[in-house]
Amino acid sequence: MCGIVGVVSDNNVSEKLFNGLANLEYRGYDSVGMSFIKNGRLTIRKGVGKLQEVHKKVDFLKLKGSIGLGHCRWSTHGGVTQNNAHPHVDCKKRISVVHNGIIENYSELKRFLIKKGHKFYSQTDTEVIAHLIEENLEGSKIEDAVRSALKKIEGSYALGILFADNPGKLIAARNESPLVVGIGNNENFIASDVPSILRHTNKIIYLEDMEMAVLTKNEAKIFDFDGKEKSKQVDTIKWNAEAAQKSGFKHFMLKEIYEQPRAIADTLNGRLENNHVVFEKEFGLSNSFLKSIKRIVILACGTSWHAGLTGEFMLEELAKIPADVEYASEFRYRHALLDKQTLVIAITQSGETADTLAALKEAKKYGVKTLSICNVMGSSITRISDGVIYTRAGPEIGVASTKAFTTQLAVLYLFTILLAKLRDTLNEMQIRDMMEGIRKIPLQLQSVLDEDKEILKCAELYYNKQNSLYLGRGVNFPIALEGALKLKEVSYIHAEGYPAAEMKHGPIALIDRQMPVVFIAPHDFYTYKKVLGNIEEVKARGGIIIAIATEGDKEIPKKAKHTIFIPKTLYTLSSILSVVPLQLLAYHIADKLGHNPDLPKNLAKSVTVE
Ligand code: F6R
Repeated sequence: MCGIVGVVSDNNVSEKLFNGLANLEYRGYDSVGMSFIKNGRLTIRKGVGKLQEVHKKVDFLKLKGSIGLGHCRWSTHGGVTQNNAHPHVDCKKRISVVHNGIIENYSELKRFLIKKGHKFYSQTDTEVIAHLIEENLEGSKIEDAVRSALKKIEGSYALGILFADNPGKLIAARNESPLVVGIGNNENFIASDVPSILRHTNKIIYLEDMEMAVLTKNEAKIFDFDGKEKSKQVDTIKWNAEAAQKSGFKHFMLKEIYEQPRAIADTLNGRLENNHVVFEKEFGLSNSFLKSIKRIVILACGTSWHAGLTGEFMLEELAKIPADVEYASEFRYRHALLDKQTLVIAITQSGETADTLAALKEAKKYGVKTLSICNVMGSSITRISDGVIYTRAGPEIGVASTKAFTTQLAVLYLFTILLAKLRDTLNEMQIRDMMEGIRKIPLQLQSVLDEDKEILKCAELYYNKQNSLYLGRGVNFPIALEGALKLKEVSYIHAEGYPAAEMKHGPIALIDRQMPVVFIAPHDFYTYKKVLGNIEEVKARGGIIIAIATEGDKEIPKKAKHTIFIPKTLYTLSSILSVVPLQLLAYHIADKLGHNPDLPKNLAKSVTVE
């Protein structure tokens, strides 16, 4: 959590830092700060609140300097206060540090530094880094002082460091927190993600763990922690800066919901060939291995975990492979039983989620093959996986995941087709139907978006309710969980997702005239009739029924107060369509309540701490 950006240039950098932070705010927004060096003087401005709120007080754009750092904070150590906001400094106020991550041995280092006479003014773990560098600086080059400090630090970090006495150099380092270096024209950058610097450069170096970067305006050199220079690949990013803008939408979340037809079309592009699914070379898993696997374990958190549950359903139903879906945070601390015929899949939008990264590392200890389904090229999880399938959602800025989720479902569906074909669990006709089904999804999503007016009406009627239930079955049970999560995280209304038939084992006690109950009930041969029964049970108790149903359904509108229609598709694909009205419902309710759905309280986009 927390976002960092840094620039060394031959002209003023305040606007670049400001715009960078505006794009990084999804990573943390409880406080924000910047530091600059001009004429050998270090200037720092920071405060509690979101970027625009603090900017009103301190006018970041008034600050001048050709080298600077910016930081937006999601607090871990120390409350949300002015003193705890970054950048942090050493005793002499000649070193400025911004940090994303957690220094695990900070208490021990702090005690050591206090004994040496260092004075601390914040409760953060980050401040020890500035003092530790100061402690090592006496008679050393700045690079050596940073290196010595890094060798003593345990934990995760992406760091940006400035020295008032070396105003032409920006130093950065990374261990288990994301950090990229951007190569510009007479200027170079560091940032927590690519979109925050994309309007200035698309030439990117991904830093690895235990690497340090030394940037001047003309040069970017990367070293290991022993000071040995490394030669690194410079990637050219294809996303354009426009993709990271709101493009006329009120919020990123709404824009990203509306982008889903395009995002799914991009995710399918080039991967459906006649009756085959083809992935790119990064996929990296051989057909013989895929034929031999006996089990799949999926690791993920949050919304990506819900995608995993939907994937489990697809893989078992169609490719006939036993699949288990694990919360990454739980998996990493228990002794899972994995053998070489198990494929482990990590699903992650960011590729940087600390729990998923740690769980994947844990899985790798068993010698299993790993695959990641990820949206961010070059992210940490993709680099440690044997194979990668990229979702091509484009940058997802809204904290609540939307287009990343549906593109994850699309990739899981493609992967299921590939396995079903290799393992002969479906015949050619069934494969053709599945491929036809997904080809239609982008257009069908467009028609779901056309239901937005009806969804807005529901939001206007029920935004002031305190609770709600989301019920679904089979492939749409994870969608019930996802709908409830979306509502909770952006509107702060309590919501629970349940398998529809479980309702009678407890949650039914909650139903009364104040309780909206959202049924995800597309038509299918398995459970549709049972869900109709569940709808009756809620109706009999006065619950307010909002149903997601298949176009042409005559039964549900008779029972539900509101029916949102999705087009007819294959049962396994219905989840991609049925989640969209739930995303819109959560968005409109949050907006009606006056919350900014792009920056929900207490949340951050990529959770890079455990
Ligand atoms: C919810 C949401 C989170 C993420 C979770 C995992 O809308 O976005 O629940 O899904 O933090 O993040 P990734 O997918 O980046 O690993």
